[in-house]
Amino acid sequence: MNDRIDFNDENSNTSANPSFDSVLQARLNRRGLLRGGVGTVGTTMLGGLGLAACGGGSDDVAAPVPAALLGFSAVAKSLADTVIVPPGYTASVLYALGDPLTATTAAYKNDGTDTDFENRAGDHHDGMEWFGLDASGKPSSSAIERGLLAMNHEATTDEKLSSFFLHANGGTSTLPRPAAEVDKEVAIHGISVVEVKNTSGKWATLPASALNFRLTALSTNIQLNGPARGNALMVTKYSTDGTKARGTLNNCGTGKTPWGSFLTGEENWAGYFTRKAADDTARNDKSVVSLKRYGRNAAAASRHGWESAGTDEQYARWEISQGAGAASADYRNELNTFGYIVELDAYDKNKTARKRTALGRFAHESATFGTPVVGQPLAVYMGDDSRGEYIYKFLSAANWAAADATPADRVTTGDKYLDSGKLYVAKFNSDGQGDWVELSISNPLIAAYATYGFADQADVLVNARLAADAVGATKMDRPEWCSTNVANGEIYFTLTNNSNRAVASATMPPDSANPRVYTDLKNGTSAQNGNPNGHILRLKEGTAGNAAIGFSWDVYVFGAESGAASGTVNLSSLTADQDFSSPDGLVFSPSTGIMWIQTDDGAYTDVTNCMMLAALPGQVGDGSKKALSYTKADGSALNVDTYVGKAPTANTLKRFLVGAKDCEITGLCETPDGKAMFINIQHPGEGTKMADIADPAKYTSQWPSNAGYGAGKRPRSATIVITKNDGGKIGT
Ligand code: FEO
Ligand code: CA
Ligand code: CA
Ligand code: CA
Repeated sequence: MNDRIDFNDENSNTSANPSFDSVLQARLNRRGLLRGGVGTVGTTMLGGLGLAACGGGSDDVAAPVPAALLGFSAVAKSLADTVIVPPGYTASVLYALGDPLTATTAAYKNDGTDTDFENRAGDHHDGMEWFGLDASGKPSSSAIERGLLAMNHEATTDEKLSSFFLHANGGTSTLPRPAAEVDKEVAIHGISVVEVKNTSGKWATLPASALNFRLTALSTNIQLNGPARGNALMVTKYSTDGTKARGTLNNCGTGKTPWGSFLTGEENWAGYFTRKAADDTARNDKSVVSLKRYGRNAAAASRHGWESAGTDEQYARWEISQGAGAASADYRNELNTFGYIVELDAYDKNKTARKRTALGRFAHESATFGTPVVGQPLAVYMGDDSRGEYIYKFLSAANWAAADATPADRVTTGDKYLDSGKLYVAKFNSDGQGDWVELSISNPLIAAYATYGFADQADVLVNARLAADAVGATKMDRPEWCSTNVANGEIYFTLTNNSNRAVASATMPPDSANPRVYTDLKNGTSAQNGNPNGHILRLKEGTAGNAAIGFSWDVYVFGAESGAASGTVNLSSLTADQDFSSPDGLVFSPSTGIMWIQTDDGAYTDVTNCMMLAALPGQVGDGSKKALSYTKADGSALNVDTYVGKAPTANTLKRFLVGAKDCEITGLCETPDGKAMFINIQHPGEGTKMADIADPAKYTSQWPSNAGYGAGKRPRSATIVITKNDGGKIGT
C-alpha cells in the first residue's frame, strides 16, 4: 500500500450495532449435534450445476469432473516484475488497457496521448466471464475455440485526482480538472465485451468484431428494475420518473446467471461523488443518514474531481448537493442509482442493461447462484466489501424452470428471477450455525428503526446497509468474492482483511466468524493490525437448500505467512508453497472443480507480489473447533471459539501463479473444456508516483511491455490467457 487515500478500503459502518456473534459467545454449543449429517458429494447436484453452467446456447455442457490431485509444481513467492506460472504452462497477454475494440480505432500508443476510450479496453480489468460462440457466431455453451470475454473495468491508477498514466504529463492534480482529461477517465470505467478466438493454439482478440462493445460511467443504455424502479428515491434530473440510471461505475466482481447473462457488481462508487459542506443543513432529513452510511460525508472530496470539469450534465451529475427546487431538478438522489448488481446480455449490445434493485444496494463484489433446482427458487449470494459490512442472499420469488436455461431473451428472463424476491442478511453464530434474516419493511426491527425511518420496501433495499444494521447482522472482515463449490453446493466467501477488527473495539471485536486480531510487521517495521491477512469462510445451507433460513459454517482457510505463529495466526498451518494474504477473487472451475483463490494484498507485499492459488477444499465441518483468547484493556479475557476447516495438504492447496509488481490478480473464466484460462492482472505499477511520469525507470512496473506486449513502457492492466503446453486442463 502506498500513502495515497485508499478508495478501495471504504469504512463507513459506524453503526452501534455490536457484532451479533459477540452477544452469543455464551450460547449453548449445539454444533456437533447439527453437524452430524454433513453429506458427501451428490450426483444430483453435479447434474444441476451442469445446467447452471449453460451459456444460453442450445447445446449441452458436460457435468463437471472434480479434479484429482493438483498436478503442477508450486510457484515460489516472488517480487519480480513478471507473471510466473508453473513449468509446463504458458501465460500470454491478450487484451490490455487501450486495446482497440473497433476496426477503425488507432493502435494504442501508450504515451498519454491516446483518446477514444469508448472504443478501447477500459482500465483496471477485474471480474470476467466467458460467453462461447459457435462457428457461425451464435451463442454456444460448449464452444471452446471462440467466445466473448465480458469484463469489468473497475477503476484507474490515480494519485492526487489524476489518472496519471492516461495523460502525457501525468495530468492535472488540482481543481478544476480539464474536460479532456475527465472524458478519458470516465470512459475507462465500466465494462467491455471483446471477442476472442483460438487460431492454431494462439489466442487473440478480434478488434473488428461487431459483437465488441463498452458500457461506461456515462452510458444511457441502462434502466432501473425491481422494487425501487420509479420510487421517489430514484428521481434525478437525468430520470425524472426514477426509472433510469446513467452509467455503471467501479465494477468489481462478476457473475453469470443460469440463463446465460452477465452480472457485474458496482463496488466503491460513492467516492466519485461530492457534495457541499452545507448540504447536510440544506437536506435536513433522513437522506443525510443514508449518505453518511454509504460513505459520502458533506464536503468530502471526490476521487477525481470530475464534477469540476464543466457545467454540462455529464460533469454536473458528480456533484450531488440538494438544490432549492424539486428532486427532478438536481442530482441529490444520484447516489441512490449506483450500488447494484447490473445484468446485461453479453451477446447483444442493443439490449438495455438492468440495475437489479431487488438484490440490494451496497459495495457489491461478485454474485454466485446456489445450485439451481427445477421447481424451487434461485438463491444469489453476495458480499458488501467494506470494513465491517455484511453478507447477503437474494431468494427469487419465481421457481426455476429448466427451459429458462436456453431462453429466447436473456435479460427479460432476468426480469422474471431477479426483480421479485426476498433479500436476507447473514448472522454468524458462535456455535457454527448461522441465520438468514429477511430485510423486510414488515420486520419490526426495521419498521421501527430509530436511526433511519424506512418508508417502504424500496427504501429498505436502497438502504440495505441500514436495514442490516437494524437487525444486528454480523460485521465481516470485508466480504469480497463468493463462489459455489461445484462438488457440493457449499458457498465460499473471501474476507480479504480488516484493519478495524480490534479487541478494544466496541463494535468490531473478534467474533467466531472473524476471530483473528494480531499484528503483522511489513518490511519488519510497519505494523499491520486487525486481521491483515484475511480468511475464506464457507457455508452449507440447511435442508431447505436455496430457501433455507439457517446454515452451518466454518473457515475453510486462514491467510497467513507460513512463518507466523501457528496457534494464533497461521491457524491453517500453511507452508511456504501455500501461504497468501488478502484473498479477493474466488472462482470454482466448472470443468475441474478446482477453487482458484486470487489475492489483492498490501500486507505480504514486502515478500511477494499478489498471486493465484489452486485449492481442492473439503466441506463444512471437516476440521475442528479452535478456542482463541484475547486480553482486554481491563485485564479480563475475551474468549472466541471458531471453526477451522481441515488443514490443506501439499496436494489440496498450492500456489499456481505470481503476478507483476504492484498488481492484484482478479477475474477468472475458462473455456468449457478447462483448457484455456483467462485471468486479469490489475493495476501493475500502481505504486508509481505521479511525479515520476516522465521517467519509466522509476515506474514500479513496466508490465506488460516488459513481456513483449504493446508500445510504450507505462504499465497496463491486462487479460492474460493461460494454457498447458501438453494441451491438458489447467491445474490438473
Ligand atoms: Fe474491488 Fe473489493 O475489490
Ligand atoms: Ca509481514
Ligand atoms: Ca475485489
Ligand atoms: Ca480488493
